[in-house]
Amino acid sequence: MKRSIIITGGAGFIGSHVVRLFVNKYPDYKVINLDKLTYAGNLDNLKDIEDKPNYKFVKMDICDFDGVLKLMQDEKVDGIIHLAAESHVDRSIKDPFTFAQTNVMGTLSLLQAAKCYWDGNWEGKRFYHISTDEVYGALEMTNPEGIKPPFTTKASSGEHHLAYGSKFFTEDLKYQPHSPYSASKASSDHFVRAFHDTYGMPTIVTNCSNNYGPYQFPEKLIPLFINNIRHRKPLPVYGKGENVRDWLFVEDHARAIDLIFHQGKIAETYNIGGFNEWKNIDIIKVLINTVDRLLGRKEGEDMDLITYVTDRAGHDLRYAIDSTKLQRELGWEPSLQFEEGIEKTVRWYLDHQDWVDNVTSGEYQKYYDSMYKNR
Ligand code: NAD
Ligand code: DAU
Repeated sequence: MKRSIIITGGAGFIGSHVVRLFVNKYPDYKVINLDKLTYAGNLDNLKDIEDKPNYKFVKMDICDFDGVLKLMQDEKVDGIIHLAAESHVDRSIKDPFTFAQTNVMGTLSLLQAAKCYWDGNWEGKRFYHISTDEVYGALEMTNPEGIKPPFTTKASSGEHHLAYGSKFFTEDLKYQPHSPYSASKASSDHFVRAFHDTYGMPTIVTNCSNNYGPYQFPEKLIPLFINNIRHRKPLPVYGKGENVRDWLFVEDHARAIDLIFHQGKIAETYNIGGFNEWKNIDIIKVLINTVDRLLGRKEGEDMDLITYVTDRAGHDLRYAIDSTKLQRELGWEPSLQFEEGIEKTVRWYLDHQDWVDNVTSGEYQKYYDSMYKNR
């Protein structure tokens, strides 16, 4: 094998797309999916590639320093793409300790294991840390009606083509995280950079905007709402639904990760996004119309499911990524228009009700736990 890499969190939403891309595209790489299989990890996400000879799953906690070090030694690992994390803001508000443990201590444990194994032989090695735009805090909404954004990408080339302020998250902005989740991700980013600056480890950090697409755990806005619309359950819109997020199709994020892992400059940070800002309420209306249409209902007949509820504590108002550095330096661009991506995503969830039911019932977890115990 030409390379041996660990992808952490490969059984989760984004991680499973990254694992699939690498296993299919690089038959001469050994791709090791290291995942603890928390409630968010699901091996069903990888059924189509699980028997490929260049793929291996290892059930492990990233906080298990000895286990990670031994795995790196046994498999002669030369690259790590680190996605494993607790990722849901609402959970972090209820249980910040778990977020500090996994996101901060887990990242530190991985870094330390890589440092011990690579032992200063940095040639050909890479530690790539996947982070979030939430570390930059929230942007002001200076144009609530929307203005023309400075750039158009394929993602934002549809009818809705708006920015809600003139400022964007650029790589040089100072970190101002607000939620326990984003504070834990910010802290892990700092540790990664510290390992470069202190020990010379070849690290890269990327900060991406909101992802959507197949295999996202249905506690996040888009899959939760698609499922609720299908079952005609209330749609809990936080606050006034005016908060803005910048949406990217998950496969476009996975393509960016592939490009940056291979061609990104050591010690650099790249922001990933598609200049594709949407107010939550506008996305929710698109989701209702799309689900209604695809289920043969009258388009918009489920608008009355919208239920305004108490706002999320510390709810960030607006996220908007400036990804011109990545476009300019490495030539990455989103490949999918948002409206096409949403249609594809809604279809996927409607066609995969079994997946949604398994994930939400927790049955998949028991099944795989017993399966791996017996191996
Ligand atoms: P996810 O919650 O769907 O998946 C996380 C995965 O990590 C799961 O498979 C889980 O089992 C695994 N995991 C959790 N704790 C672990 C531990 N201690 N040891 C080993 N594995 C563990 O998350 P996601 O949405 O796919 O996000 C992946 C990464 O991308 C995260 O680091 C997140 O911060 C970042 N990110 C996410 C988004 C987004 O919109 N979802 C955007 C930007 C960045
Ligand atoms: O920006 C990148 C981040 O995007 C990632 O780092 C996180 O891992 C990912 O979870 C996501 O964070 P958000 O908090 O933006 O995503 P979420 O899907 O939870 O919420 C999107 C928006 O919708 C947000 O403004 C809160 C709102 N919302 C969410 C839920 C779950 C609601 O109004 N109602 C809901 O029930």
